[in-house]
Amino acid sequence: MKVAPSLLSCNFAEMGKEMIRVDKAGAELIHLDVMDGHFVPNLTIGPAIIKSLRPLTKLLFDVHLMIDHPLDYIDAFADAGADIITFHLEAKSDPIKTIEKIKSRGVLPGVVIKPGTPAEAVFPYLDKVYMVLVMTVEPGFGGQAFMADMMPKVTVIRNEIKRRGLDVLIEADGGISQKNAAVVSAAGTDICVSGTGVFKAEDAEAAIRALKEA
Ligand code: DX5
Ligand code: ZN
Repeated sequence: MKVAPSLLSCNFAEMGKEMIRVDKAGAELIHLDVMDGHFVPNLTIGPAIIKSLRPLTKLLFDVHLMIDHPLDYIDAFADAGADIITFHLEAKSDPIKTIEKIKSRGVLPGVVIKPGTPAEAVFPYLDKVYMVLVMTVEPGFGGQAFMADMMPKVTVIRNEIKRRGLDVLIEADGGISQKNAAVVSAAGTDICVSGTGVFKAEDAEAAIRALKEA
């Protein structure tokens, strides 16, 4: 699996340094959690922070929008330097319009589903997106417990991608660490997000390597 550390669990007072630290420790993408206090009961970072982080790394910026109206903010996050923008199907924007808008900005689109949303919800979009993000925690906070019962969902989506001969990545996000990375990988995950699993680890490099080798 590729590893996308989530900055949500880093020391916000040193965000740039923390991002460089995981870049050097072998991260392949940087996962940036954007929350608006409406779609989820938490507020985090916006385009201005992402813009300031952009020049500090060449890694892909994987921007996870946990906001009510993602369509209204695609330009702002594209201008800030997002390489991938994922948004929730449970949000209030039209998914097709949002996917098209992301593509119109030369950014890779992805759809996200919460634990309570069935795998089949992403089927209509599989031929339009770069990635599907399956949440393995209820979105809103880092440091929550991994929901292993989400793994069958990953496999259902993986099988549908294969059945239709599509080339779509699956990312899993929430509570992932070296303890459960093998299960995540075996289910068919291509990219794993890890926040506390990396930033609270003694040795970030070892933690990232363990996730990659799972
Ligand atoms: C939760 C975020 C996740 C979270 C992952 O809403 O989308 O990306 O930050 O952090 P951990 O790995 O600590 O669950
Ligand atoms: Zn996330």
